[in-house]
Amino acid sequence: MKKIINLLKNKFYRNRFNIGLLNKKKKYYSVDSLISEHFKDNPEHPCIVTLKKALELGNKKSLIIIETGSSAWGTNSTVLFDNYVNSWGGYVYSTDIRAKPMLDLKNKVTNKTFLYCQDSVKFLKELNLSNFEKYKKLVYLDSMDVNWEKPVESMIHCLREYLAIIPKLNKHDLILIDDTPKNLDILKKVQGIKNSEYFKKNIKIGIHGGKGSLVRDLIFDSKNFEILINEYQLLFQIK
Ligand SMILES: C[S@@+](CC[C@H](N)C(=O)[O-])C[C@H]1O[C@@H](n2cnc3c(N)ncnc32)[C@H](O)[C@@H]1O
Repeated sequence: MKKIINLLKNKFYRNRFNIGLLNKKKKYYSVDSLISEHFKDNPEHPCIVTLKKALELGNKKSLIIIETGSSAWGTNSTVLFDNYVNSWGGYVYSTDIRAKPMLDLKNKVTNKTFLYCQDSVKFLKELNLSNFEKYKKLVYLDSMDVNWEKPVESMIHCLREYLAIIPKLNKHDLILIDDTPKNLDILKKVQGIKNSEYFKKNIKIGIHGGKGSLVRDLIFDSKNFEILINEYQLLFQIK
């Protein structure tokens, strides 16, 4: 019954958006304090290093944060980003193919966050950033989960997301991609032995199974991009 209700909600809300409803929220005085509080129950979380660096590069100034895959079973990233823009300015545009994240999140974020129920590639293609030419942008790609045994679908989806948004970005903008481990050791630590076996098998046939691995192949040797950190996530900047 729950499944059917969710399917109906997905259909009803598809291509709609909600704006956050929270009126008042705590403001932070440093990215350090924002990150420490956000991850207080999991201070060893593998995504801290990259999320922290990406937000620090916002320099406590306005950011336009564009996210694919709204808070669900991850790091509650949409709330983290909402806290950044609520403290230092800017807006969050977040999309998810399911309606549930949008409906759950609207009471947890401020009116600086726009929550969409839409396929991420369509969303990024349609997103109009022309009013935000002067703002620095942070793009967080975290939609289709990686099936580590058969990762290609997620890799291609992420590449399509990247190709949809990259023409709209400028010098110094940042791109952060989840689930893109640098190597087998990091994957094993974060995703366990079973997935690391799949990862090893795929590498043998030339598939480096991270969500952003095709994007990394594309930018790796380019003088137009700088890889800032690649541990479990991949963070890079347009030069
Ligand atoms: C790993 S979760 C996102 C976690 C979130 N970024 C966080 O850190 O809390 C992945 C989300 O991507 C969504 N998703 C899967 N395929 C998608 C697509 N094609 N377009 C948009 N969202 C998609 C799923 O519904 C799911 O909610």
